Amino acid sequence: MKKIAVFTSGGDAPGMNACVRAVVRTAMSYDVEVIGIMQGYKGMIEGGENFVPLSSRSVGNIIQRGGTILKSSRSKAFMTIEGRKKAYDNLIEQGIEGIVCIGGNGTFTGAEIFYNEYGIPSIGAPGTIDNDLYGTDLTIGFDTAINTAVEAIDKIRDTADSHGRVFFVEVMGRDAGFIALAATIAGGAEMVLLPEVKGDHLKLIEFFKNRQQSKKSFSLVVVAEGNFEGGSIAISGMLNKEIPGFESRVVILGHIQRGGSPSAYDRVLASKLGYGAVNALLAGEKNKMAGLIDNKIKLTPFIDSITKKKDLNPDLLKLIDILNN
Ligand code: F6P
Repeated sequence: MKKIAVFTSGGDAPGMNACVRAVVRTAMSYDVEVIGIMQGYKGMIEGGENFVPLSSRSVGNIIQRGGTILKSSRSKAFMTIEGRKKAYDNLIEQGIEGIVCIGGNGTFTGAEIFYNEYGIPSIGAPGTIDNDLYGTDLTIGFDTAINTAVEAIDKIRDTADSHGRVFFVEVMGRDAGFIALAATIAGGAEMVLLPEVKGDHLKLIEFFKNRQQSKKSFSLVVVAEGNFEGGSIAISGMLNKEIPGFESRVVILGHIQRGGSPSAYDRVLASKLGYGAVNALLAGEKNKMAGLIDNKIKLTPFIDSITKKKDLNPDLLKLIDILNN
């Protein structure tokens, strides 16, 4: 291969820039040209100025930056046959022989379909704060996101303590509770509500009905955005109905979890995976995600990383119960 492309797609994640940098510099070390595609699949379809030649220098001074210098999108057009045909024509016009895509589930689904139609190989690097991809212990952005969430929880804890209040803190995670679980343990919250666990709200009701026994003067509960029984507003409403006189405050952390300078861990992870992705692509691998398993770079077929579920560690749920004594 003499020319490859790199793009970022789906929800941005801190560390994506560090990964782009590693992709470009690794490719350059093999004298392979790199084109950065702006705005993910959207830019691939629209072509023109969205195709930008990258050099070692053009990815300088980005390792510490949040967001993605290549921008991102959730492209509906790439889900259509016409959209993918346009994308293919643009790649061929530019002489692109392989792709490194940095993103999550949707990104790899698109890459898999695209390869089956047009035969341009892709290797993925897992970039999403949700950490919900099978085939990697951690995704790029997760560590930074949980640190952001915990920083916020620490602040909420101060005011919760001062006023003796109950706070529901909603963290991101549409389909997966990895952020919620980590934020609960690191933030010292009492309970967590997760998308993966049905009926955990019943435990919550029980806990607050008997709260006096615990002698706790204030409470923090973390709710994953995709929680089974609804988000933090729904949960606090439910408790208001169930327990007369119950009072609480709700904080939705939202997109602040996606921003900010990547943690050292995310920078290292992103660098390793960008390097691993280029090496795999140039070695002839395709349709696989470069992930980190037991601290080693491992390739997992896109189809597995998309369809297989990465399970939450049930021991951590037990741990939360124990630490809530
Ligand atoms: O996939 C990452 C994520 O931040 C999810 O946690 C969240 O549900 C979603 O993206 C939000 O997406 P958007 O920014 O498109 O609203």
